[in-house]
Amino acid sequence: MTKKMTISSIQKAKRERALVMITAYDALFASLFEESADMILVGDSLNMSFAGKADTLSANMDQMIYHTKAVCMGAKNSFVICDMPFGTYTNKKDALKNATRVFQETSADCVKIEGGKSRADIVKHLTDNGIAVCGHIGLLPQSVRGEGGYKVKGKTEDEAKSLIKDVKAIEKAGAFCIVIEGVKAEVATAVAEAVEVPVIGIGAGNGVDGQVLVFSDMLGLFEEFTPKFVKKYMDGATLVREAVKSYAQEVESREFPQEIHTY
Ligand code: KIV
Repeated sequence: MTKKMTISSIQKAKRERALVMITAYDALFASLFEESADMILVGDSLNMSFAGKADTLSANMDQMIYHTKAVCMGAKNSFVICDMPFGTYTNKKDALKNATRVFQETSADCVKIEGGKSRADIVKHLTDNGIAVCGHIGLLPQSVRGEGGYKVKGKTEDEAKSLIKDVKAIEKAGAFCIVIEGVKAEVATAVAEAVEVPVIGIGAGNGVDGQVLVFSDMLGLFEEFTPKFVKKYMDGATLVREAVKSYAQEVESREFPQEIHTY
């Protein structure tokens, strides 16, 4: 994107076109994504693909701030979202203290917090205090241990009704944009239609207002597991392995470095 998105241009896009969000955790990849993505999410998924942990739960504020600073440096013209890690927004005081750190120590444009109606008071407290918030409803990765696994939502009528209540509560609390994850497509579409703010899907079908993918999944770099909703746009792991193997072979055979690489 040539022009940096703003909260109002993101909201306006809901009625005009599908929004593009992608994760990034460092300056290098962020700079490569900048021209194609509307928003860059520094997701706490970095705890898995960057830090090698089994889930996102042990990510902390220092980590998120470090990676958000790097992404902001690499993509100065991008709208950057910093994920609030598990346990950092359980009450209004902690939420404001931690989100304020994000705004003071990085140039992120907003924070993202997981949860529906039960988190509406936190969203309102942050937005009342000048912190822009992106919501996240449906399958909540930070609830993986609490719920005993990653559970697709919207499978029953009760769940569908509950998601509509969630999205309306978070919108009313002031969220300017809401991620919806792991939800039956027809329910996610109804959720997006129920509010004025853009609803960005991941594993939520094609009837929502935009899509987000974790970059290491869509570039085929993360091999631990591939959720059904991920499309691999390249086989990054194979490309990287082959390149490094060629390098190693050329070092061993003394084919590299050549004259042109030598002072
Ligand atoms: O942490 C993350 O990358 C996310 C996406 C899955 C939306 O929250």
